[in-house]
Amino acid sequence: MKNHEIEKYSIAARILHWTHTTAFVLLFLTGLVLFIPGLGFLAESGITRIIHRVGAAVFVIIPLFFLVFRWKATWRGIGEAFTWGRSDVGWLKAALRFYFLNDESTMPPQGSMNSGQKLWALVAIVAGIVFVITGGILWFGAATASAGTLQWMILLHDIAFIIAGIFLLVHIYLAILHPLMTEAWSAMAGGKISAEYAKKHHGKWYEGISKAQKD
Ligand code: HEM
Repeated sequence: MKNHEIEKYSIAARILHWTHTTAFVLLFLTGLVLFIPGLGFLAESGITRIIHRVGAAVFVIIPLFFLVFRWKATWRGIGEAFTWGRSDVGWLKAALRFYFLNDESTMPPQGSMNSGQKLWALVAIVAGIVFVITGGILWFGAATASAGTLQWMILLHDIAFIIAGIFLLVHIYLAILHPLMTEAWSAMAGGKISAEYAKKHHGKWYEGISKAQKD
């Protein structure tokens, strides 16, 4: 295959990514003003609480829509995030040299998602489920659930917020600023990456699509 551009993310995958990201960032920021005591004054008018609930509705509806109408691709992505093997162990061993010393020599060939992306997808899925359950109880159970239950829900919601927030910041850094991930942003913005980048960063996936094109 020549060094041309290859489709990495379909238009549907990009719509899912960006709408869900927008909802997540809105939820993150409107949650932050409740989480940090000094920012509480920003929540006084009630507008951030309304935005949090609108964001929550989008956060739930968009993935459900994809689970129903694009179920094959969605389950393939979920399956990939939950499938871990030998090359992921290799990734873990090579990750520090790769990300901190820009040394790509020991990095084993990766699939369409590298192990780090798979880890982020896993965290996003698990934290997403925790957000929906605990947030749902805080929202709809505010008048009926016991004070103890609500306290637990806030604690779990906050733990998910801290873990997902840290991963989100790492994800943004890697996607936009890291010197080796030169086409990560354009992949999700325009959907395409060069064959050279695909070969280097997603070797197993590139091999698979090259073979499929020859067959
Ligand atoms: C379906 C998804 C979600 C639902 C239904 C939901 C619902 C809620 C509700 C009802 C509250 C209480 C707000 C109030 O006191 O008026 C809350 C607080 C909060 N939410 Fe969410 N939320 C969701 C997702 C998220 C996400 C994705 C994040 C961050 C990434 C987040 C971060 C927070 C934080 C930090 C608080 C403040 C908790 C505290 O008081 O310590 N939420 N959420």
